[in-house]
Amino acid sequence: MDIRLLRPSDIPLIQHANLENLPENYFLKYYLYHALSWPQLSFVAVDVSRPAKTPYDYPKIVGYVLAKMEEEPTDGVQHGHITSLSVMRTHRRLGIAEKLMRQSQQAMVEAFNARYVSLHVRVSNQAAIHLYRNTLKFETEKTEPKYYADGEDAFCMKLDLDFIKQQILEAEKAEDEQDKKKNNGSEEKTKEDQDEGEPVGDVGRDPEQDKKVKVKVGRGLGVGELVERDESKH
Ligand code: ACO
Repeated sequence: MDIRLLRPSDIPLIQHANLENLPENYFLKYYLYHALSWPQLSFVAVDVSRPAKTPYDYPKIVGYVLAKMEEEPTDGVQHGHITSLSVMRTHRRLGIAEKLMRQSQQAMVEAFNARYVSLHVRVSNQAAIHLYRNTLKFETEKTEPKYYADGEDAFCMKLDLDFIKQQILEAEKAEDEQDKKKNNGSEEKTKEDQDEGEPVGDVGRDPEQDKKVKVKVGRGLGVGELVERDESKH
């Protein structure tokens, strides 16, 4: 199974999966709006056990998560929202929905610094409630009466994403420490140990030369600097 970002060309296939699995359906342009506005947040699960025979074959999409950022959050807090999630019957209970959700949550933090993610779920949807509440640790914020077109209530659920931010910071710290150790190690090398030849590719490159330097980009340069000069006048 391959979990990858949703591509605009997948949209008819996820619309098909949505029609198969859920009573909440959307126009194609609503999927496109998600894919073009927040291309980092929606994912599909592709069954790669039987690879495509020709380049024209469709991928076998067996699950998707359609997600977005809340454009005008009423609480003023940057957060994501799960619009729709489903997995085909043939591929359920394999952990696919959990993986799709975790990928999207990670991307919400990495790409948009989201503080939390919200969603609505039917109060009768035992499978989804188990996934959200027990597996992913969402909390029920409130019940919205008659949220769905057929009159069913929805649980409005929320998951704080600060734990992901924390994991990212810890991973960055560990990487920095490893880099430092590597650099110290190379300084301690004696002359005899050092490579005599010129560096080729990344091997033997002096890490000091790779130090990042801050440069001005975009607005910092001022418009004048960004306008192409008309050389013909000279
Ligand atoms: N009853 C109870 N628990 C279940 C069920 C079920 N029918 N199905 C899955 N679970 C549990 C699993 O045991 C697992 O629990 P664990 O972590 O304690 O082991 C957990 O839920 C996650 O299981 P996954 O295998 O990741 O879930 P799956 O890939 O089967 O997908 C889903 C779950 C998406 C709810 C699927 O059943 C489905 O597509 N249903 C129809 C569409 C749907 O209801 N979508 C959600 C609507 S809400 C919204 O879109 C925001």
